[in-house]
Amino acid sequence: MRAQVVIVGAGPAGLLLGQCLLQSGIDAVILEQRPAQYVLGRVRAGVLESGVVALLERLGAADRLHAEGLVHEGFDIAFAGGRVRIDLAGLTGKTVTVYGQTEITKDLMDARAAAGGNTVYEALDVALHDFEAERPSVSCIKDGKTLTVECDFIAGCDGFHGISRASVPAGAIRNYERVYPFGWMGVLADTQPVSEELIYVSHERGFALCSQRSRTRSRYYVQCPLSEQVDEWPDERFWAELRRRLPADAASALVVGPSIEKSIAPLRSFVAEPLRFGRLFLAGDAAHIVPPTGAKGLNLAASDVHYLAEGLIAFYKNKNSVELENYSARALARVWKAERFSWWMTKLLHRFPEEGDFGRRMQLAELEYISASRAAQTALAENYVGLPY
Ligand code: FAD
Ligand code: DHB
Repeated sequence: MRAQVVIVGAGPAGLLLGQCLLQSGIDAVILEQRPAQYVLGRVRAGVLESGVVALLERLGAADRLHAEGLVHEGFDIAFAGGRVRIDLAGLTGKTVTVYGQTEITKDLMDARAAAGGNTVYEALDVALHDFEAERPSVSCIKDGKTLTVECDFIAGCDGFHGISRASVPAGAIRNYERVYPFGWMGVLADTQPVSEELIYVSHERGFALCSQRSRTRSRYYVQCPLSEQVDEWPDERFWAELRRRLPADAASALVVGPSIEKSIAPLRSFVAEPLRFGRLFLAGDAAHIVPPTGAKGLNLAASDVHYLAEGLIAFYKNKNSVELENYSARALARVWKAERFSWWMTKLLHRFPEEGDFGRRMQLAELEYISASRAAQTALAENYVGLPY
């Protein structure tokens, strides 16, 4: 088989890139190791910057997002009995949209199917060949048979544990990493969200977040030790812990119900440099991870795809490879700023037992400063709504 571009992975990065290329008449095949239903069932991101919304609009995949997504003009940070509202719209003129990653994935899958894009699901043992040379290829096992796709370029969109980054020789790549000593225990429930806007909570017992997917579906998280397993968190324990961390008015308004999904996510900051190795490009979680606190992961995958698609389109349409050559530097410049913001939000809001009482007082002093300073709120808000690309 032959394609101009092979995309490894059909998560948000792979599907977005696939759609950008399809729209420009570039022939790209996606190889995904999991079944489509598995990819659709992964509950993750929920908050979209306006840049992603604009990208989905350009791709003709934003109709349901506009019908069902919730536009949020601000959010609350609660701490020490106090509460500050970050007025995103007032401070930046921009908003964010609450719309689940599962829904974006479905919309992009539908758009891809309608446009006749080729996605090979359950592509096992994917292997990348000769990307440092002129004629790369990608092989996999599909239905027990070897499938080899020859191509011009490979886009590694296969997430943090994928094969693309792992295929790069160790001497050609540099990794920067911080692993945090806790995780997020997340619950999805068909209950009315506790408030119209998100509430990020910094509490002595640990961080908590009240998010949502719709007016009838809530998403909540609590910081938990990495040593704990999901089965140690029956629903009753989760709701009791969440309630203890919420401000009194929210705790009394909390509507609980049976969880429909429950998982623990570890927290990590990670950046690989560079993002280009000959004819292989890394994008999304394959290239970098942010701790989820700033809601930046999917949004960064989209900005990577924006730059990479521009480069590939300029190459095929105008025979111009300058943008492809600049892809790594352009994408990384934005990645590092989002890494900084996510790391800062994580440090500000979580309980770090090893930082002791002094560390806690520094957090509270910073939260009080943010509450009183429009300048500090503006800095937070302009990062939260997303830096331009
Ligand atoms: P992935 O979604 O990981 O997709 C990679 C795909 O590649 C997968 O389908 C995988 O099956 C496939 N794959 C892997 N290995 C192979 C292989 N060897 N061969 C073939 N295919 C392979 N981000 C936000 O922007 N906002 C949020 O509010 C937010 N909240 C989050 C909350 C939680 C709890 C978590 C865990 C994450 C959150 N994120 C958020 C981050 C966001 O979900 C990720 O950044 C996003 O999924 C990255 O997309 P991706 O396509 O790069 O990678
Ligand atoms: C969600 C996740 C986040 O990391 C965040 O900052 C806000 C919302 C969510 O899953 O809804």
